[in-house]
Formats: sequence, structure tokens, C-alpha cells
Amino acid sequence: MDVKKIRKDFPILNQSNDGKALIYLDSAATSQKPMHVIDAISDFYKNYNANISRGIYDLGEKTTELYEQARETVATFIGANPNEIVFTSGATQGINFITRAWGDKNIHAGDEIIITELEHHSNMIPWQQLAERTGAVLKYIPVNFDGMLALEMLPELIIEKTKLIAVTHVSNAIGMHVDIEHIIKQAHAVGARVLIDACQSVPHQKINVHKLNVDFLVFSGHKMFGPTGIGVLYIKEKLHDEVSPYQFGGGMIYDADLYHARWLKAPHKFEAGTPPIAQAIGLAAAIDYINKNIDFDELKKHEAELCARLIDGLLQHKAITIFGPVDQLKKSGHLVAFTVDGIHPHDVAAQLNKAGICVRAGHHCAQPLAKKMGIASSVRASFYAYNTRKEVDHLVNELKKLLTAHSL
Ligand SMILES: Cc1ncc(COP(=O)(O)O)c(C=O)c1O
Repeated sequence: MDVKKIRKDFPILNQSNDGKALIYLDSAATSQKPMHVIDAISDFYKNYNANISRGIYDLGEKTTELYEQARETVATFIGANPNEIVFTSGATQGINFITRAWGDKNIHAGDEIIITELEHHSNMIPWQQLAERTGAVLKYIPVNFDGMLALEMLPELIIEKTKLIAVTHVSNAIGMHVDIEHIIKQAHAVGARVLIDACQSVPHQKINVHKLNVDFLVFSGHKMFGPTGIGVLYIKEKLHDEVSPYQFGGGMIYDADLYHARWLKAPHKFEAGTPPIAQAIGLAAAIDYINKNIDFDELKKHEAELCARLIDGLLQHKAITIFGPVDQLKKSGHLVAFTVDGIHPHDVAAQLNKAGICVRAGHHCAQPLAKKMGIASSVRASFYAYNTRKEVDHLVNELKKLLTAHSL
């Protein structure tokens, strides 16, 4: 992969603060944006801005066309039909959407919902809330101490009462890849639905929702070169009647009178109100950028090489503990989480910041997982197509300096 060429497309990576280059190692939180995406959004506002589906004038029709083209681009990218793509504000809204619009109708007292101990709060708290509202039982697939999911427990956990399994494809906190194909098959064997949180996988690997045979899948545009404020909720066509509208208002009505209304077909019945038009167009530009510049096999090799380099550097120091399945991360990871004995992760991140290095420190919105690992927080370095070996070396050197300064 030509990282040098890719870096030129990202203006923010060429900035320097007080002569220090920006070393951005936080793409798991949000990715940087290429000019192609920035230009597409600005071009939209300069030349096409109107509301969609309402104006009978040319400009409004053009905007509607661009918005629906964006839906087609997303659909093709993940192997879906366009009517299976619902634009949301982000993955969090997509999951809340399903807990409300599908869960409130289909989950009853005594039913069981299964999630994992790995989940981001976005794929945990909405299910806790649904269980509280309905009297359903929430169960967890545990994480073993080697950082892997205890999938051997599935036969015991998945029973006739299981109505839904919601699981992350790749953990944002420790980088672990989950065998979702296996989980989907086991869930479908008892007639349960499956939601995949693909926030950390869609930006890094090819996903085909029809091949996976998944029921619901969510991701956020901003982690894959796209803008904030746009996410995707995939709803399998066969389930469109099982899912109610999440919100009500303009844009989703087929016919309304004073006391009743009927909805348009999916996806429009799921998109009340003015949608994130510029953001959807920005996301389509991000996918276009990926299609033209990123080979997912090469990306995986590149990111795993950066992980392996960082892990090897960290393993030189006894005071550093790495979390997550190290062997798997070296082969296919895009992030590494660690702690330094005696130095709070926030202090590690603050020190690295002085050297122009952006890493994340905290519980990474997966507090139950941190508790399970016996820590309150960790430092996380995450990679994307534009990161370099030199940046990893810089991080390792700065950590070495920090350890020396603390006599560790
Ligand atoms: C695995 C995972 N799930 C869900 C989310 C929530 O995404 P958003 O904040 O874009 O809705 C994130 C974001 O960090 C994530 O990494």
C-alpha cells in the first residue's frame, strides 16, 4: 500500500504544531478525512443544497438523486439492497433504533437477549434498557483472561428463549476479532435475530451482509474517512415488517388524516424528518475514496504490521502490560491497548501529547470490560491506512523516555 501517497490526501496530517508533526493514532475513535470527502461536502453546499423528496424544482430533484445515490453506494459497498440501508446519525442511533423499533414489539418478559462482555456502551446500555422495559433477561458471553470470547459457552447460552444476540465484530477496547459467522449460525438455529456492531470492522475489511446472513448491522461514517453525523443501519429486507418506524414525522408518510397515518415502504418509513443529506453524500465520497485507494487485504497487512511493531516495542518493557489477544492482533489487528505500571493512562497520553502523539486513554466506553480486566482505563493506539512505521517507532521511543524518567 502506498502510504506516502495516501498521506498526501489528508491535509490535517501535513500540519505541524510548534514544529512537531501530528502523529494521529486515534482512528478507532474517529478517522481523519481526505480532501475527496471534504470537497464533496463543500461542493454539495456550494452547488446542490436543497431538501430532498419535496421540491418539484430541479435543484431539489438533483439533491434527492444524490442522496439516493449515496444509499446505493453504501448498499453496494456492504453487499445489501438499497432499500435495506437506513441512514442514521451514527451507530449508537442505529442500535437504539433496533432496541426501540424492533425490541419493544418483539421482546417480551422472560425472553432472553445475549450480548458480550466486550461491548462498547453503545451496544450494551440500549439492551440493558430494553431488558428493563420488557422484563427480558440479559445474558453475556464472557471474555476469557486471554482476551478471547468464551464461544465454547454458546450451546449453553443460546436456548429457545433467546430472541436476539447483539455482538461487536471487532472490539474497540482490545482489538479482538469475533467469529460472527459462527454466532449468526448458532443464533439462527433457534430463530433468534442477530445485530452486529461493525463500527470497527467496516472501515478495515470487506463485509458482505447478505453472505453473512445477518439481520441488523450498524456502523458509523466518521470512522471510515466520512463525516460525523452519519451512520448506517442495515435491516434485512425480510424483516422490514417486523420493525416499526423509530420516529414519526415528515418524509415517511404515505397518507395521513387527523387521527391515523400510513407509512411509506422501507427505507423511507425509517427516516422521518430531514435526513443528514450532506453527511450521506460525504459518506458516499468516503466509500468512493476507499474503492479507489484502499485494497482491504493490503490494509489488513499494513495495520497488522504496525500492531506487531508496536507490540514488539512494548514487550521490551516489564512495566508495560498489553491487553487483548496479542497473537491475533499481530496477524489482523488495527489497535493495541496497554497500561504502564505506576503511571495513570491519562498521564501517559498527556506526556505523549507533548510529543505530538494523539492516543486515547480511558475505558474506551467499555467500562465493564475494563473492570473485568482489573483496570479502570488503558492507553489505546489505533491505526489506519495513513499511519507509518516511523510513527510507531516514535511512540515506542517516547514511551521509553517516559519509563526512564520514572525509573521503570
Ligand atoms: C465498537 C463500537 N461501537 C459503537 C461505537 C459508537 O459509535 P458512534 O459514537 O459513532 O455512534 C463505537 C465508537 O467508538 C465503537 O467503536
